[in-house]
Amino acid sequence: MRESQSEYSEICLPNDANTLGNMLGGHVMHLVDLCGAIAAMRHARCSVVTASVDQMTFLHPIRIGELVLLKSQVNRVFRTSMEVGVKVWVENLHSGHMRHTSSAYLTFVALDRAGNRVLLHPVVPETDEEKRRFSEAAERRAYRLAFKEKTKTDSGQTA
Ligand SMILES: CC(C)(COP(=O)(O)OP(=O)(O)OC[C@H]1O[C@@H](n2cnc3c(N)ncnc32)[C@H](O)[C@@H]1OP(=O)(O)O)[C@@H](O)C(=O)NCCC(=O)NCCS
Repeated sequence: MRESQSEYSEICLPNDANTLGNMLGGHVMHLVDLCGAIAAMRHARCSVVTASVDQMTFLHPIRIGELVLLKSQVNRVFRTSMEVGVKVWVENLHSGHMRHTSSAYLTFVALDRAGNRVLLHPVVPETDEEKRRFSEAAERRAYRLAFKEKTKTDSGQTA
C-alpha cells in the first residue's frame, strides 16, 4: 500500500473558481480523479480507467490563491479493480493553516494496451491504519456492487 502513495497539488486560480471566488466542485473532483489515478497506475503499472467514485462532500471552500493538496493510496486490490482513497486539504499559504476539505473512494480498473482487463497483484497493508482501510474497503466494495446491480435492475424496469 505504501508504495502506491501519491500526492498532487495546485494553487486555486481564478479560472477554476466560481463567482464567489471558490474553487468549483467539479474541478476538485477532477483533481481527485487525477490523484487517484496516479496511485492506481503506480500500483498497476498500466493504464487504468475510473469505474466509480463514491459519494463526495465538500467541507470547506477553497479560495483563489490557496493551495490544494491531495494524497492518494490504493486501499485494496480485488481482481482487476482496486479501491483508491483520496484525501484533499487546503492550505492558506499566508498563514500556513491547513484544513481537510474532502475525501473520496474511487474504483479503478486496470487495462492493457488492447483494452483488456489486467489481473492485479494484491497490496500489502502494514500499519494498523492500512489494515483498517484494507478491511473496510471490502465492505465498501460489497455496497458499491450491490448498488450497481440495483441501479441496473431499476433502469431495466423503467426502460
Ligand atoms: C469500468 C469498466 C472497465 C468495467 O467493465 P465491465 O464490463 O463492467 O467489467 P466487469 O463487470 O468485469 O468489471 C471489471 C471490474 O470492475 C469492477 N467494477 C465494475 N463496475 C464497477 C463499479 N460501478 N464500481 C466498482 N467496481 C466496479 C468489477 O467489480 C470488476 O472488479 P474485479 O475484476 O476486481 O472483480 C467499464 O464499465 C468501462 O470501461 N467503463 C468506462 C470507464 C471510463 O471511461 N471511465 C472514465 C474515464 S477514465
